[in-house]
Amino acid sequence: MDPSGNDIGVVGLGVMGRNLVLNMADHGFAVAAYNRTDAVTREFSSEIGPARRVQPCYSLGHLVESLEEPRRVLIMVKAGAPVDAVIAELVPVLGRGDVIIDGGNSYFQDTQRRGKSLAAKGIHFFGLGISGGEYGARTGPSLMPGGPKHAYESLRGILEAVAAHVDGEPCVTYLGPGAAGHYVKMVHNGIEYGFMQLIADSYALLKQVLGLSNEELAAVYAEWDAAELESYLVGITAHIFGRRDEKTGGSLVDVILGEAGQLGTGMWTSQSAMDLHVPGPSIDIAVAMRNLSVLDDQRQVAPTMLRPEPDLHDIAAPARQSTDGAASRLQKIEHVRNALYAGLVITYAQGFAHLRAASESLDFGLRLEDVASVWRGGCIIRSAILRDIKVAFQRRPGLPDLLLDTQLSRAVASRRSDLALAVKMGVSAGVAVPGIMTALAYLDAYRAEWLPSNLIQAQRDYFGAHTYKRTDQEGIFHTDWLGGGEES
Ligand code: 6PG
Repeated sequence: MDPSGNDIGVVGLGVMGRNLVLNMADHGFAVAAYNRTDAVTREFSSEIGPARRVQPCYSLGHLVESLEEPRRVLIMVKAGAPVDAVIAELVPVLGRGDVIIDGGNSYFQDTQRRGKSLAAKGIHFFGLGISGGEYGARTGPSLMPGGPKHAYESLRGILEAVAAHVDGEPCVTYLGPGAAGHYVKMVHNGIEYGFMQLIADSYALLKQVLGLSNEELAAVYAEWDAAELESYLVGITAHIFGRRDEKTGGSLVDVILGEAGQLGTGMWTSQSAMDLHVPGPSIDIAVAMRNLSVLDDQRQVAPTMLRPEPDLHDIAAPARQSTDGAASRLQKIEHVRNALYAGLVITYAQGFAHLRAASESLDFGLRLEDVASVWRGGCIIRSAILRDIKVAFQRRPGLPDLLLDTQLSRAVASRRSDLALAVKMGVSAGVAVPGIMTALAYLDAYRAEWLPSNLIQAQRDYFGAHTYKRTDQEGIFHTDWLGGGEES
């Protein structure tokens, strides 16, 4: 046993785990590090050398023995059964008042279950959302902790030290009990999906309709990232278009197969929104498009079988843009830029509305201003827009939807025509822009004084006697549609 009294133990030395260990060590914490496979621990230990306050451990028992009390163990293994397996091994060697933190992308229902069962044993359990990928973990991620509030103090120092900082504030704060942290991280990822789909739509328009080269795309996204669209995802998009492929010498992005993967958090966001009856179509469509992108066999034959009649013009020929003139092309790029901005605000709005509903339903007591604050730095969806979102919740903490904020509503309403023009560009060229189209439809439906849902109610009552309410009278009504009588 090593009596050095490590501040924290980290279980799982994959990319995220090892970078967090190094980040903590950089901030002066003594860290015990363990991986199920000894060779991984050994390799990590030899890589970092003896200078850092990192102690390699070759058993969980050894890791736990080396920790100061209350013992804090951060689990960084794959979500699902591996987390339960580590917890099962830890429970016998931990004691009352010790803290287990799960830093993976765990499903929130699992986190609720684990929290309850560990609380019964006197062990505090935190679900910790961590965003920022490999680089973020090393240099400052956005952290979303949820768990027993009274135990948060024992974690605060470490989390605040290693988190990203914006305007001198750490991108971490206690979010709420139970699975609040993992829930917030799940919705973060849902927004991430929506954000990426919107950028993908803008790429499709700029490339296929306006004929921009990869060099031009790199310049356009870099310019956007320098103004109101400033964000991590737009920034990396600019870099991606500038990257050359070592094998072919061409652009790397052009040789990347267009089948989008997913680990499940976007899908969970959509499913959870549905469970709560919260509309989140910008996230739904992003998940659906990833699913569509991998229908490879069908997508081989569909272009021929579904060729429109009469045929659309040859969308692959940017030459036709020459008739447009440079000014008009620049104008169209501006429409795409504004459509992307409006689409992003709409996507964030859906994500925050989802969080508000989840917080009420699951008693998280979330402060949405805090969520916006934690997302301003370190995470994948960080952007200048989040600064405005934070201000919106400061202005009105009970704001039911970001689209009803005085400033953001103006920002979106003034770009409605850009959304429409971007959709039009896509539709007339036969280029799918599902993210932008969904944002526009959502906006038009959300702001509509009248929706055709009265007809849906009539149909439900017609075939299923599901009843309806009237506009001119209180009460519940049913009509005998085939007979003619109305009963209240
Ligand atoms: C983050 C990311 C991270 C991970 C996603 C990717 O916040 O750092 O969201 O959690 O990259 O899980 O998700 P998909 O594989 O589903 O796109």
